[in-house]
Amino acid sequence: MASTVLDHLLTRSSAPIHELKEPAPSDSEITTILTAASRVPDHGKLAPWRFILYRGDARARVGEELLQLAEKREGPLPEGRRQQELTRFSRAPLVIGVISSPKEHPKIPEWEMFLSGGAAAMNLVHAANALGYATNWITNWYSDTPEGRALLGLAPAERVVGFVHIGTFDGTPLERPRPDVSALWSDYAGPWKG
Ligand SMILES: Cc1cc2nc3c(=O)[nH]c(=O)nc-3n(C[C@H](O)[C@H](O)[C@H](O)COP(=O)(O)O)c2cc1C
Repeated sequence: MASTVLDHLLTRSSAPIHELKEPAPSDSEITTILTAASRVPDHGKLAPWRFILYRGDARARVGEELLQLAEKREGPLPEGRRQQELTRFSRAPLVIGVISSPKEHPKIPEWEMFLSGGAAAMNLVHAANALGYATNWITNWYSDTPEGRALLGLAPAERVVGFVHIGTFDGTPLERPRPDVSALWSDYAGPWKG
């Protein structure tokens, strides 16, 4: 773990999901991680997000449900794909679903509630990393279908911010190309002219 928050922010990266092993965070560490995840900017203090933990046997049960749904959508699948669906949630010892759960509000746009959910997921990732665990935030096909979201425990109005896979990683972090920050900012130059 980097020695300062800034070191961490400047060097952080995800780990391959299939290399996330036991141990996973303990219950008290999960409480710490979710406390950090909940401590995010949140216009109107609506807490428009919640967390679902997939661990233990539940991970394999989710895999069986996902396989059934995938075959309902696509027809019988070859063995490789069957195994892929069956093990979606059992590669890492813990998966935390960050769920956007928008609240009715006369003034606060739903878009801002989604953004707060993204902040919660990122805080969750940083907190898990600070405790020494590696992470990988994904969504995947099942997040983009109402049936997939329902089998994962979401209500119809809820959306997936991410399924954060968490575990212990002993490998060397893979670096990937990062954006050229100088190309991403400019001083304000007046209204958009198209
Ligand atoms: C909202 C969101 C959804 C993502 N969904 C997927 C996904 O479904 N599959 C995937 O391979 N990566 C997905 N990613 C990317 C992974 O998080 C990827 O491992 C990450 O971009 C690696 O970058 P990092 O090393 O900076 O963390 C997603 C990222 C975000 C923010």
